[in-house]
Amino acid sequence: MDHTVPAAGFLYWVGAGTVAYLALRISYSIFMAIKVWGLGNETGVGPGLGEWAVVTGSTDGIGKSYAEEMAKRGMKVVLISRSQDKLNQVSSEIREKFKVETKTIAVDFGSQDIYEKIKASLEGLQIGVLVNNVGMSYEYPEYFLDIPDLDNVIKKLININVVSVCKMTQLVLPAMVERSKGVILNISSASGMNPVPLLTVYSATKTFVDFFSQCLHEEYKRKGIFVQSVLPYFVATKLSKIRKPTLDKPSSDTYVKAAIRTIGFQSRTNGYPIHSLMNVFISLLPSWMYFKIIMNINKATRAHYLKKAKKN
Ligand SMILES: NC(=O)c1ccc[n+]([C@@H]2O[C@H](COP(=O)([O-])OP(=O)(O)OC[C@H]3O[C@@H](n4cnc5c(N)ncnc54)[C@H](OP(=O)(O)O)[C@@H]3O)[C@@H](O)[C@H]2O)c1
Repeated sequence: MDHTVPAAGFLYWVGAGTVAYLALRISYSIFMAIKVWGLGNETGVGPGLGEWAVVTGSTDGIGKSYAEEMAKRGMKVVLISRSQDKLNQVSSEIREKFKVETKTIAVDFGSQDIYEKIKASLEGLQIGVLVNNVGMSYEYPEYFLDIPDLDNVIKKLININVVSVCKMTQLVLPAMVERSKGVILNISSASGMNPVPLLTVYSATKTFVDFFSQCLHEEYKRKGIFVQSVLPYFVATKLSKIRKPTLDKPSSDTYVKAAIRTIGFQSRTNGYPIHSLMNVFISLLPSWMYFKIIMNINKATRAHYLKKAKKN
């Protein structure tokens, strides 16, 4: 009996401390959300950082939207993707609409022998913003050993999602450090925050991008460089195979308009208010429940894809 009162007292303080901690964290998150998305803010993204913005994977989806937002803010834009025809089209759209200079580089990030060509094309440009956006995912969710052409898929996922981020940063960062200013946006994915089975290699490459970004930000923030890890949930693009945007699966334009407001405020962001809320909800789930839900969703998507493929 003597021991129950101190034990109860201890538990009381543990409970009170936990509640206070959670209340503080929630208040801080709400405060940051209001600051970033509720109040108007000017991110300072523009030619003041350097004349040019470089965007990889910039002829479609999220990359194209970033390229347009940079041009809207008066930056000249270097567009990098595979298809010269698509590059020419997006390049002339941007020049006409935003009256800024553009430059195109046609390369396939699936290979590693492209960086000398990119280096030569970027020579002499004052680069203020680098958007490491290019990325590929699986054709459909699949068990690791059953991925068709597995060797090639591993190579491409690593070259496109991982090597490109390191090599583009290696090319652009030195001049930013010299000028003590610059912004690097690395497009990871929510599947880099929470493991996604049946998209195993993709999910793991996106964790690389997230960790790379967080570490790089710590290394270079005192040198005037802001590195951001951008972690979207679904966005309606070719990659996600979602055609019709909804509130939780926004168009790339809607997503990027929101994400761009977080630059300078959040070095790690889901980029879009609904996606941040989704992240809070998912992080509250016990991991067994999270894995059960995600496995069921991806198994159903896999079955649907394979059934459709069999019909065709
Ligand atoms: N959409 C989503 O739901 C979602 C969610 C989380 C994260 N993300 C990430 O966001 C980024 C952009 O995705 P997205 O959905 O906007 O993709 P997307 O609509 O498919 O656009 C991909 C862009 O990259 C280019 N590209 C693709 N492969 C390339 C390669 N091997 N070499 C050079 N360029 C290449 C494409 O142009 P060409 O075909 O002409 O080369 C296109 O401009 C990716 O890193 C992705 O992982 C997307």
